[in-house]
Amino acid sequence: MSIDPSGALLIQWAGDGHLTTYSPGWLRANCYSSESLAERRQQPVLWDSTLNDKIPEWDYDRVVDDESFRLQMFQHINDYGFAIINGVPTLEDQIERLADIFGFIRQTHYGRVFDLIATPKQRILAQTAHAIRPHNDELFRDPIPGLFMMHCLRASQCGGGASILVDGFNAAEKLRSENSEQFELLCRIPIPHRRFLVDEVDDVALSASWPTIELNRHGEIEAVHINERTMAPLDTEEDLIEPVYQALQRMLVLAYDHEACVTYRLESGQAAVMDNHRVLHARAAFNGNRHIRQCHVDRDEFFSRLRALRRRHDAEV
Ligand SMILES: [Fe+2]
Repeated sequence: MSIDPSGALLIQWAGDGHLTTYSPGWLRANCYSSESLAERRQQPVLWDSTLNDKIPEWDYDRVVDDESFRLQMFQHINDYGFAIINGVPTLEDQIERLADIFGFIRQTHYGRVFDLIATPKQRILAQTAHAIRPHNDELFRDPIPGLFMMHCLRASQCGGGASILVDGFNAAEKLRSENSEQFELLCRIPIPHRRFLVDEVDDVALSASWPTIELNRHGEIEAVHINERTMAPLDTEEDLIEPVYQALQRMLVLAYDHEACVTYRLESGQAAVMDNHRVLHARAAFNGNRHIRQCHVDRDEFFSRLRALRRRHDAEV
């Protein structure tokens, strides 16, 4: 073994004498020190209502044309869990092109794209003009949809219909600091979620169970799954029922708290993209002819593109 003048580690192997070169950048990028391990895990930036009026907005044309700008926005989604994009053309099929930036659309029984437009023939709450409380989408699916995006084609002319975003990681951290037993229960007990629409129109019987909070082996929060509207009856031991409901109730109080919410009224030509494993979304009630199109994109492709952009800008990553 030797170190060359550039600082690279050279190893000549016994046997065939093959020479391996490890650059100092590669060695640093794969360092086992606890500081380097923590750095590579990239801690999220937690936020609450103090982010209101300071929400960065990203220009659609620049995101499409400028790779380093797109990398900044992807990194922002990685750190904060969401991004607001301006200047998205208000064409019916534009959300398909918007989704192409992030990954592949996840097709479901709703199709590729779902229209959020108040209709008298509503099948689900989203198709009404009622307020919807903060939630993660479609927890009855396996895997849970990764990125959730909304494109506003027409804002409600009469006002209302504001989008509300909540940092689920921040709400979970608050629960951890105020009641570690409740936090531990929500990390351990899977909560069943269901969507059953079995009738003359639909043949849907989706069911999946997830703990409300998922941790990595370092105890850091990796995912939050909250949706009281899709919860099925608990499927756990009798003596756990009350404690789990109490923990869920406290978690919902923290997630619904006014101070946890960022409020943003999407105007025509704006889009919001969020990590559905972290950020909860809600909307205020509205009047008028609001039209939003939404779809989901899986997370593996998004993170693949984020890493690829990083690699293009720094070969050692
Ligand atoms: Fe939703």
